[in-house]
Amino acid sequence: MRADQTRSQDNEEFFWNEEARRCKYIDKFIGRDIAEIIEKDILLKKLTLSLTGTRGKEILDCGCGTGNLSAYLAMKDAYVKSFDISSEMVKVAYVNAEKNGISGRCNFLCCGFDDLPYRDVSFDLVVGAYILHHVDVERVVRELHRALKPGGRAVFTETWRKNPLLVWAGKYLAGRFGIAKYGTKYEHPITTVDIKKMRKVFPEIYLEFPEFIFLKKQQRMYFDGRKIQSLLPVS
Ligand SMILES: C[S@@+](CC[C@H](N)C(=O)[O-])C[C@H]1O[C@@H](n2cnc3c(N)ncnc32)[C@H](O)[C@@H]1O
Repeated sequence: MRADQTRSQDNEEFFWNEEARRCKYIDKFIGRDIAEIIEKDILLKKLTLSLTGTRGKEILDCGCGTGNLSAYLAMKDAYVKSFDISSEMVKVAYVNAEKNGISGRCNFLCCGFDDLPYRDVSFDLVVGAYILHHVDVERVVRELHRALKPGGRAVFTETWRKNPLLVWAGKYLAGRFGIAKYGTKYEHPITTVDIKKMRKVFPEIYLEFPEFIFLKKQQRMYFDGRKIQSLLPVS
């Protein structure tokens, strides 16, 4: 692994461990109704709606964070393997699955994309929410392709560098005027250049752009009583 990749992984691991502790995810999110969480997140909802027939399927959830997507898929009778570089997030995801009674269909690992232990051709589906913009997509898609069975699909929901308001806010507001810069310096909303790189490995890529939901998301975070931590893109 190159030194800059190691730095990026270390940085992400540190940030997300802190985030899991700081936001007290364990208290706030565990035990909440998973279906309701997915329903309220427009992008997660769209992602799950596009996954039909998951019963009995082997699914890999990449960068699972608190494990809501993993838990949701396990509740739909899939067998879900999940990984995340943050050991604190993995702990939360595990407790989350336990509390929802589906830990028997879930398996969580603390590891980064660069050290995936999964065998070639093992998954029917690989999924991920808000993870690709944390990694080097060119390398990661090769790993996903390797792990997928023939005919398998990869479905992700991501932040996209399209909304000019967000690009402007990220450049001129975040980190100034008392506005927090949320995330690590290694994050990078996905661009058309990234998609081109992905197409070298997955020639058939379908993109969907739901409505701009940045402000809705911030409003929801605010009215749900969660602290607004930044103006930087969530989506
Ligand atoms: C924005 S969070 C999304 C979490 C979860 N998918 C969700 O929707 O709530 C990004 C997650 O990616 C993880 N992550 C960042 N870089 C990673 C890497 N190189 N390998 C694996 N996980 C990584 C972080 O620890 C964090 O939990």
